[in-house]
Amino acid sequence: MTEKILIIGANGQIGTELSAELRKIFGTNNVVTSDIKAPAQAEGPYELLDVMDKENMYAIIKKHGITQVYLLAALLSATAEKNPKLGWDLNMQGLFNGLDAAKEGLIKKLYWPSSIAVFGPTTPRVNTPQYTVMEPNTIYGISKQAGERFCEYYHQKYGVDVRSLRYPGLIGYKSAPGGGTTDYAVHIYHEALKNKTYECFLKAGTVLPMMYMPDALHATIELMEAPAEKVKIRSSYNVAGVSFDPEEIAASIRKHIPEFTISYKPDFRQAIADSWPASIDDTEARNHWGWKPKYDLENMTKDMLHHLGAQTS
Ligand code: SER
Repeated sequence: MTEKILIIGANGQIGTELSAELRKIFGTNNVVTSDIKAPAQAEGPYELLDVMDKENMYAIIKKHGITQVYLLAALLSATAEKNPKLGWDLNMQGLFNGLDAAKEGLIKKLYWPSSIAVFGPTTPRVNTPQYTVMEPNTIYGISKQAGERFCEYYHQKYGVDVRSLRYPGLIGYKSAPGGGTTDYAVHIYHEALKNKTYECFLKAGTVLPMMYMPDALHATIELMEAPAEKVKIRSSYNVAGVSFDPEEIAASIRKHIPEFTISYKPDFRQAIADSWPASIDDTEARNHWGWKPKYDLENMTKDMLHHLGAQTS
């Protein structure tokens, strides 16, 4: 049977790129994109959908004969701190609607992203293991942690085939980040090319786990395509790409743009970053379904600057 995929939150940082990738694999018409707003440019079938509107979500699933949902709509860490009630409601209600659709047999498989934000200040910061202390202190992290528990619960109780990754900060050139604490690592490349300088909202020395978008896309699709028995963790998998601080990313940019300078003006996002791990141990993802990243800081910087430079020139 042909898979029919629905991407919810398709206009966002991940959704934009994942939609294009999935359309290459499954065919344009087998991937329906949806978001709360119409896309700037529709590349294939799309629907308007507020992830909190269960009735409309179900109607769209039925209308298109959807078999898999990628549920990406969420308020990220910085935005959710500014609007905690909406952050909790949107992140949880959205997930429940997706989990219920799977529980009721409307869809066969659900993908839902978790985050390094599930960890907190009491978590061991270096090589943070899959199973460890988890006391998140941001609304976003609390919603992702609760969400992970519900994913596992729906899998164990109702046999729901839900799959999830704890994404680190994601860096790509095709789409803008949407209100996260790791967004600086995208903005810095744009500013380096445009103005040769960047004022960073995190301090020097703030090491965070990050991942280049092509790695994130292949991790996501590989996990979703893995045979169900290999997906042994149904809360969410640790996945690691690269870890660096603002000084290190600036140094890697300077290899291509020698005059580039960075300055620091930390804001409320510093406290969020300080509560998160510096690096992630992803042994389980590697062992269970063969995860392996391709990019390090140097080849990511080269690729980012190449593509962004080509866009601006
Ligand atoms: N990149 C996300 C954020 O900063 C982490 O999941 O909110």
